[in-house]
Amino acid sequence: MRAVVFEDTRRVGVEQVPDAVIEAPTDVVVRITSSAICGTDLHMYDGRVGAKPGLVLGHEPLGVVESVGKAVSMVNQGDRVVVPTHLFCGVCVNCARGFSAACLRVRPGEFGAAYGYAGMGPYRGAQAELLRVPFADANCVLLPGEPGDAREDDFVLLADAFVTGWHATELAGVSPASTVAIFGAGAIGLLAAHSAILRGAAEVYVVDRVPVRLDQAGELGAVPVDFTEGDPVEQIKELRRRAGLPMGEEQMGGVQAGIDAVGFQATDRTDLAREDPTGVIADLARLVNPTGSVGIAGVYTAHDFHPVAEARSDGSLTVPWATFFDKGVSVRFGRTHDRRYTTLLRDLVVAGRARPGRIVSHHGSLEDAPRLFSAFDRRADGVVKAVLRP
Ligand SMILES: NC(=O)c1ccc[n+]([C@@H]2O[C@H](COP(=O)([O-])OP(=O)(O)OC[C@H]3O[C@@H](n4cnc5c(N)ncnc54)[C@H](O)[C@@H]3O)[C@@H](O)[C@H]2O)c1
Ligand SMILES: [Zn+2]
Ligand SMILES: [Zn+2]
Repeated sequence: MRAVVFEDTRRVGVEQVPDAVIEAPTDVVVRITSSAICGTDLHMYDGRVGAKPGLVLGHEPLGVVESVGKAVSMVNQGDRVVVPTHLFCGVCVNCARGFSAACLRVRPGEFGAAYGYAGMGPYRGAQAELLRVPFADANCVLLPGEPGDAREDDFVLLADAFVTGWHATELAGVSPASTVAIFGAGAIGLLAAHSAILRGAAEVYVVDRVPVRLDQAGELGAVPVDFTEGDPVEQIKELRRRAGLPMGEEQMGGVQAGIDAVGFQATDRTDLAREDPTGVIADLARLVNPTGSVGIAGVYTAHDFHPVAEARSDGSLTVPWATFFDKGVSVRFGRTHDRRYTTLLRDLVVAGRARPGRIVSHHGSLEDAPRLFSAFDRRADGVVKAVLRP
C-alpha cells in the first residue's frame, strides 16, 4: 500500500509499504477514504519528538471496513467508520472509567497509545491506503452515509480535531453563558470555539496571528484577536470593557474559561522568530478571572529533542503557579479521551447542529502530502486543516 512516511526533519515521502493486515482476531482493516494532517504531526515533522525515519504518519482516519477478524462482533465488512486517534481496549480499568487515552493494554508497561505517533506505541499511521485497527469493536465508530458524501469532512474531524476541541472546553469547564478565551486558531482552537458556542458560551475570543485562521474564528461566531497588534490579554479586557461587562463582574475584566490550543511550540509574542513554551500559560494566568478554569489541550512533550534556551528537554517549565493558586483557578490537561465524545459529536453532526468540516481548507491525494505538510508547517498558503483522500 502507499503511505505517508516520515523521512527526516521537515521531509515526508510517499512510499510503498507492506499492506496493513489482520494481526489479531480482534482487529479489522479499514480502507481509508479521508485522513487529516494535524498540528501534532508537525511536532514530528519538525524533528522535535524523536520520530524515526520510516514511521507511517497519521492518526485521524475515516474509512470503510475492508476485512474483519474472527473475534469482532459489532463491525462488519463495508461499514463506514471513524477511528479515534488514541486506540484503546475498551475494558481495562482506565477504559472502564472513560479514560480511553490512558488505556493500560495498548502499550504494556505504559498507558495510552496512538496511530503513527512517535513514542506512543508500535501502531502504524493512517495517512495510508489501509489501517489496522486493534480492538475493533471498541475503536470503530459507525457512521451513516457513503464515502465522499457531504459529511466526509465533518466525520473525519471526529477522529481527533473536533473531539479535542470539545475536550478542551470540557477541561476548561465551559458551560452556558461562559466567557471563553482560546489561544491558537488551528483546527483545535477553531473547533474549541465551535464547541464553546455549541455549549452556550456567551463570549468566545480566539487569539492567533495568522489572518486566514482569525477570519475563520470570526466566521464561526468568535471574536478574533491578533496578537501581533498588542498584548492579547489587554486586547480582550479592552474589548470586554467597551462592550460593557456583565452586571456584577465589573471588578473582573478577564474571562472565566481559558484554553491553550497551541502547546510547547508557541510563538514568542515579542519575537516572532522564536518559540516561548511558557507564553500562552503566562497569558492565561493573567487573563482568567479568580475562580476560573484553564484547559490545556496543546501538547507539551516530555522528550523535546531541540528545546529552546529557557526550556528543558524533559518538558519542565516555569509557570505562574502562585497566580493560579491566588486566583483559585483550576488547571486541567491532557490527551483527549476521544471515545467519550465521539458518538455524542457524531450525533450533533448528523442532527445538523455541528459543522466541524467547515474549517477544512485543503484536500489532496497522498502524493500531495509533502507539499501540504510544508505549507501547513509554515502556516502558509491558507492551510488550516488539510485532508488527504488516498
Ligand atoms: N490533547 C490532545 O489530545 C491533542 C489532540 C490533537 C492536537 N493536540 C495539540 O493541539 C495543538 C494545536 O493543534 P492544531 O492542529 O490546531 O495545530 P496548529 O499548529 O495548526 O495550530 C496552532 C496555532 O497556534 C498559533 N499560535 C502559536 N503561538 C501562539 C501564541 N503565542 N498565542 C496564540 N496562538 C499561537 C499558531 O499560529 C497556530 O495557528 C498542538 O500542540 C497539537 O499537538 C492535542
Ligand atoms: Zn490530530
Ligand atoms: Zn483499556
